Order: sequence, then C-alpha cells, then structure tokens
Amino acid sequence: MPNSRVWLDVDLTAIAKNFKVIRNAVKPCELMVVLKANAYGLGMLPIAEHLVSLGATRFGVAELKEALALKKRFPKLPVQILSGLLEQEVDECVRHKIICPISSPTMARWISRAAVRQKRKAKVHFKVDTGMGRLGFPHLQAAAQIAAALKLPGLVAEGILSHFSSANNPQDGKNREQLSNFRAVLDELNAKGFEFPLVHMANSDAIHNLPEALSAPFNLARTGVNLYGVFDLEGTHAYLLKPTLTLQTKLLSRRLLQAGHTIGYGCTHTLSRDTWVGTVPAGYADGIPLAASNAGHVLIRGQSCPVIGRVSMDYITVDLTPCPQAREGDLVTVVGRSGKSKISIEDWARIKQTHPYEIICALGPRVERGYKG
Ligand SMILES: Cc1ncc(COP(=O)(O)O)c(C=O)c1O
Repeated sequence: MPNSRVWLDVDLTAIAKNFKVIRNAVKPCELMVVLKANAYGLGMLPIAEHLVSLGATRFGVAELKEALALKKRFPKLPVQILSGLLEQEVDECVRHKIICPISSPTMARWISRAAVRQKRKAKVHFKVDTGMGRLGFPHLQAAAQIAAALKLPGLVAEGILSHFSSANNPQDGKNREQLSNFRAVLDELNAKGFEFPLVHMANSDAIHNLPEALSAPFNLARTGVNLYGVFDLEGTHAYLLKPTLTLQTKLLSRRLLQAGHTIGYGCTHTLSRDTWVGTVPAGYADGIPLAASNAGHVLIRGQSCPVIGRVSMDYITVDLTPCPQAREGDLVTVVGRSGKSKISIEDWARIKQTHPYEIICALGPRVERGYKG
C-alpha cells in the first residue's frame, strides 16, 4: 500500500490454507470460525467473505454489533454470540435470528420473553462454567438450572458449550477436570431427556492439545487465532499453519547523531558512538508494544535494526548500524519477512510478555488493512 503510512497485509490465500488444515484436523466435528472483535482486529467482513467462499458454515462472535454485521452480509448462515448478552441486546438478537448464548437463568428469561413478544422461536446455546470462572451456569447447578430454563416458552436449544481455561497447557489437570465436569452435566441432562444437537468446548489450543474435545459427545469446535497462522506460545502444535500477516511502514528519517545523544522520552538510551539513527512512523497507537522500547527490532533491507529509546505514540527510533545502506522511504518490516529475516507476531508477544492475541487485537485503527488473494 504505497500511499499508507503503516499498513497490514492480510494474506487471504494463507488464511484459506489454514482454514482447510484446521477443518480437517477437527473432523468429524464441524468447525465454527470465531470472528469476534473485528476478526481479532484484522477485518471481519473481508475475512468472513473469503471463508464463506471456502465453505465456512457458521460464525462465532462476542456481541450484537458484530453479529448484526455478519447477519446482514450472510442472512442464511448461523451467527452465534458465544458467551453472554446484556438485556439491551436481546430483542435485536432474537429479531435478527442471531443464535443467543444463555449463561444464566436471568438471560434465559430475557430471551424467552423477547421470543414470546416477537412471536418467534429463539435458537440458543447453553453455556456451562466447568471451571473457567467467567460465565455460564456453574457446573454443579447447571443441569437443574438448564432443565428449568428449557421449560420457558420460545426457546429452541440448538447447543450446549463450555470453554477451557488452560487448553494451552496439555499437562494441566484442569483440562481433564473441566471435561469431566462437562460430561457430568451432559449425562444429567440426557438422563432428564434433554438432548442438544451441538456440543462444543474446543478452541484453537484445545484442537491442538486436547483430542478428547474433538470426539463424542463433541461435534463442533471453534477456532479463531489459528486462522491467522498464530499460535499460543505454549502447548504442542498438532499441525503447521501459514503466517498470514505482514505489518509494514517506511523509513521516515535517517540522521547521524553524535555519541552521547539521548533518544526519546525519558532519555532511556544514550548513543555510545556516532550513530545513524532512523525514525519509523509507527508507534504504540499502531500496536507496537511499549515493551519494545530498547528491546524490539524491525527489518530494513533484510537487516535487523534494534529499537532504541522508548516507543512513542506515533514513532519508534531504530539504530541503523546493521543497515548502513538504509535510506528515507525504505520499506520497514515490523511483522513479516524481509530478505532472509523474519519477525512474527509471537516474537512481539514474547517481548511484551503477553500472548499473540493481544498483539493482533492491539493493531491500531489507523493501520490500513489490505487483503491479498
Ligand atoms: C468462547 C470462545 N470460544 C472460542 C474462542 C476462540 O479461541 P481461539 O482464538 O483461541 O481459537 C474464544 C476466544 O477467546 C472464546 O471466547
């Protein structure tokens, strides 16, 4: 994108390959693609359109606005809000045939009332808290409370789900505990005569680490972050994925500064010798972590140039010593390949001591998104 200042190229061909690999890995389960938070900040509709052309059959999102945008574009495809609803969101969800989560008796009453008022049936998935501690019917009371909710008018129970807290670590006993809690709830509900067409618990990490979550009683798996070729920093990799993201900008300035010159807010770096210093027009407003101050690097002409000084809102400063041939206007690769070198989303996550999700979701709104393939 030659006229942009900072831009993100999303490689749809690579996303297509990843989608097919993941869809194959979860078989015989169906695959739900999770596109919440604007597809983790990468652009929901272009990615959704591409995935639908490849045969994606259902979407998961976090909230009403995301669901409405997908429903408007794909009126016939199932779009599901995964975890919870505010009362103010319920009417529109029901009206637009968005699949609603029910994660409490109160939510069940709201949805039932809206369905009755609108004289229609609301498709719902019950959410069970098997140990995540965030949302859902607490597993010990879940069977009784869900059975009671199912007596309310206007609800069609299409599914039941839970969510792992520690699926990135296959050794963590919490995973087995959550699976067993979920099975107990299902058994109790089945014994009461309730069946759910869709039963699901696995996210990307569980698809890699917990094969138990991909066979009966489970018949659906949810994937988000893996679509973009991004892995959790822990856990095993059951399959390989293609990187899909390139974040680039251009070198804005190149100056020779004298030894002893300090760099940036707080003077956190002092040049030990005369140094060619480059200024790159991307900062924390674009998603470069503040933690990259005096820690990260970018690629110019295939060379790794360290970030010096503190990352500011709109700029970072880099030491151009490894790339003496650098010139104003040169391409600067923040994520992706340049020559034989590469920087991944996971590299930035390690620098920030966070997970890759936060890095991609933090790419700022002024980063121009473009889609290849
Ligand atoms: C309930 C639920 N399911 C699935 C996902 C998708 O997770 P991932 O991106 O790890 O595949 C998320 C994401 O946080 C989620 O909250």
